Amino acid sequence: MKRNTSLIQAGQKFEPTSRAIIPPPYLTSTYVQESPGVSRYEYGRTDNPSFRNLEAAIAAIEKDAVDSVVFSSGTGAINAMIHLLEQGDEILCDNNTYSGTRRIFSECYSQFGIKTTYVDARDFQDFARNITDRTKLIWAETPTNPLLKINDIRELSKIAKSKKCLLGIDSTFATPINQSPLTLGADLVLYSTTKYMAGHSDVIGGAISSNDEELIKKLRWRRNALGLNPSPFDCWLIQRGLKTLSVRLQRHSENAMKLAQWFESNPLVDRVIYPGLKSFPQYELAKEQMNDFSGMVSAVFKLPSEKIQRFLMSLQVWQCAESLGGVESLVDYPWLMTQSGLSEVERIASEIPEGMVRFSTGIEDVEDLILDIESALTVAQE
Ligand SMILES: Cc1ncc(COP(=O)(O)O)c(C=O)c1O
Repeated sequence: MKRNTSLIQAGQKFEPTSRAIIPPPYLTSTYVQESPGVSRYEYGRTDNPSFRNLEAAIAAIEKDAVDSVVFSSGTGAINAMIHLLEQGDEILCDNNTYSGTRRIFSECYSQFGIKTTYVDARDFQDFARNITDRTKLIWAETPTNPLLKINDIRELSKIAKSKKCLLGIDSTFATPINQSPLTLGADLVLYSTTKYMAGHSDVIGGAISSNDEELIKKLRWRRNALGLNPSPFDCWLIQRGLKTLSVRLQRHSENAMKLAQWFESNPLVDRVIYPGLKSFPQYELAKEQMNDFSGMVSAVFKLPSEKIQRFLMSLQVWQCAESLGGVESLVDYPWLMTQSGLSEVERIASEIPEGMVRFSTGIEDVEDLILDIESALTVAQE
């Protein structure tokens, strides 16, 4: 099956008892055993047909995946992945990641003896120099949150393979539609399904796909052991969202490109960051690695923080909120919102300027989105 067909059909067998076209969410905490110890499903934390349906759908659209494992959140998925490591192991991580990922690595797991080193993965040689005998996992997002840096998965996989460590890629911004990390050499690909995959800002979820059955088994075991399971209803919602992923992304990308081009000609904007722009420093790599560029645009304004805050509060169509990837357009001010947990030194080291605003372009009419920004910028300067 091709990808658009899989999005609709995979993990969607009609329910055999009633022949309802849509399988229901299996809201159950346990299963009646055929005889003691004989049961396809044992317990609701361990497994559920709604988990399996969503996993089948994600695995079907993820090139080269043998399977996928769903979790309570993207953060839960990261947690399960870290549990593949042992005390004394090290993670080598790109220096621009979602701040919550950094929080888990540095604040939750350093106390258990897992050390993380952050280095800009665009400089492969410098990055590789930071691998030690204890490095067991290389971790990078691409595109990154919120700088939209592109990390070269193929190059990172060469480094990982030569040092016999796992390569994990957080592909939340690209989704399986716009990028295929496993095909490029990653061992694990992680999604916050909260974002584009669910797509409607009404659910939290996470998933990891892999081309290695052993890793999948280990992750499923950890999901149960650590209680990182999602709710069956959330899986059902995410699967409903997934069916329109491909068409939604087309519109997200079109709108984002128009917005980025408009920002390029706006005198209040110092720098526009969108991987689909020819002016984007890694445009060639983005074009080679991605099928399209998704809906995230970052812009660095020539405005002080107070005016940026006024701008954000003057928007009518865009909503100022954390998260991204939903059908409605959202703005995030990393300096005070998603990256505010970082120390000032960390923020400066991660190159996030005070003037940066991150735009999660929705699927509304782009003319309305641009007009709203134009009006709010006028108010901000009054
Ligand atoms: C790139 C990226 N990865 C992972 C996460 C964590 O996902 P969740 O919020 O579903 O736990 C986020 C959340 O914003 C994210 O942006």
